[in-house]
Parts: sequence; C-alpha cells; structure tokens
Amino acid sequence: MTFHAQILTLYPEMFPGLLGASLAGKALEQGLWSCEAINMRDFATDRHRSVDDTPAGGGAGMVLRADILGKAVDFASARMAEKLPSPSGEGLGVGAFNKRGTETTAPTPTPPLKGRGYKAPVIALTPRGTPLTQARVREIASGPGVTLLCGRFEGFDERIFEARDIEEVSIGDYILSGGEVAATVLLDACIRLLPGVMGASCSGDDESFETGLLEYPHYTRPVEWEGRTIPEVLRSGDHAKIAAWREEQAEAITRLRRPDLWERHGGASGQSPSGAQ
Ligand code: ADE
Repeated sequence: MTFHAQILTLYPEMFPGLLGASLAGKALEQGLWSCEAINMRDFATDRHRSVDDTPAGGGAGMVLRADILGKAVDFASARMAEKLPSPSGEGLGVGAFNKRGTETTAPTPTPPLKGRGYKAPVIALTPRGTPLTQARVREIASGPGVTLLCGRFEGFDERIFEARDIEEVSIGDYILSGGEVAATVLLDACIRLLPGVMGASCSGDDESFETGLLEYPHYTRPVEWEGRTIPEVLRSGDHAKIAAWREEQAEAITRLRRPDLWERHGGASGQSPSGAQ
C-alpha cells in the first residue's frame, strides 16, 4: 500500500522538492509513496488571504491563526481518510501522483492493511517539539501515511494543539526559517524505510541509531590514496576479525562524539538497557 504524505504549507511549490529526485523520487514514480501539498492560504477567508496575525500580548513576528489552521487540518484529515482503506479493507485507495503531487490516475481499491496502523498522525514541525528519533521514524513509516503541518513566522496559535490531535516534532536544536525543510527531512527518513524503496541493498538495518552506535569507518579502492592505505584488517579476508574491528571502531567513535548515545547503549559494559534505540 502506498504511504501517503500530506503537507500543509504556505509554500506548496517546495514539495516534493528534493524528494522528487534520487531514491525518494524513484519511489514516488513507482507509486511506493504519494505526496500532496496543501496550501494553507486556500483556507483564508478575507480578501488578502491572510493566514497570520500579530501576537496577543505584543512582541515580534506573526502567529499562524488557529481558525485557518483548524480548517486546513480538518480538510487534510478528511482527505487522508478518503485515501485510506477502512480497517475492513474497503476504501478508495490511493491514485498515482506525479512529481508535482497532482493525482494522475483514478484511485484504485486498496487491499486490507497488514501490520500498519489505520490512523495517519498529524505532526507539526516546530523547534519546541519532541526531538525526532529513528524509532519514531520507523513507527511513522510503518503506518499508512502522515500529515505534516509546516509553520512560518513565530509559530502556531497554541489553541490548535488543544483543539486537535497534533504531535509537535523538532529535527534538532536550531531554528529553520520554516517547517518545510524539517518536513522534507522527516519524509526522507520515512521513505527510505518503506517496503521496496531500498531494494536489495537494504543496508538500513545495520546503520547508526538502529544498532545504538554510530557507524564504523568505510573504505573503498584505491588501496592507497595520498599516502593513506586502507586498514590492513579490512584486506585480511578474516570476517570475524573484520566484524570485531568494526565493532571496536563504532564504539570508539560513539564514545568520543556522542557520549549520550554511548550511555544509552550501555557504556563500557556493552549491556544495552531495554528500550535503547
Ligand atoms: N521549524 C523551525 N525550526 C525547526 C526545527 N528545528 N525542527 C522542526 N521544525 C522547525
């Protein structure tokens, strides 16, 4: 079944954007995921199509209005429900989308869901959100889709979070000019995990944050470059020795660069506490 991404944004032209190329772009063309950018300005009611207003209590910047956001989120939820099959397996299914996110074929009936949640989460991208983890990415990617709410300006009127079921997610401790780049990051991380996207290469399981450690260093030919040679052990053909070397390297890099991850991994004891990612 196609993973359906909806993006509520003031800049629909930013999607699929980077996700229209490379691995995600190919997957989009193959119908492994679909993308629909919805312009929040379409829900404005006044002549100027305004979506924001000055902050109550004063201060800099502008705030996205709850009434506009509420209508946009409700529209997206209704559309998502149309796209998804009911738990019984009946439903409209998802048509093919071209790179601009426009539906190009009539929806085809979708078979009953296997192992996927029936509800697509609604996620607002904001620097004050819960930090995104590989574990959360995996959960989202195993569901039927996601609705992403991209802020601009100072942020969202708080009442939208009280009135609708919306999760707040951050992609890191820095401020972007809007949620669109963060939405692209979140989607990229999900799309590569979708069935059929990575194909036989399937190196994903072995990567950083799945093992709880950062990745060991990689090398390829030429054996010597600018006087530097590939470590001898990697040319030894001794697979047990190579695996041990890689494990050691991964541990050393994690300890040095990410003491927080190293701690969660179980530190020097090598005992991974339950629930570690
Ligand atoms: N919007 C602005 N900055 C952001 C961040 N760091 N993460 C998610 N959304 C954002």
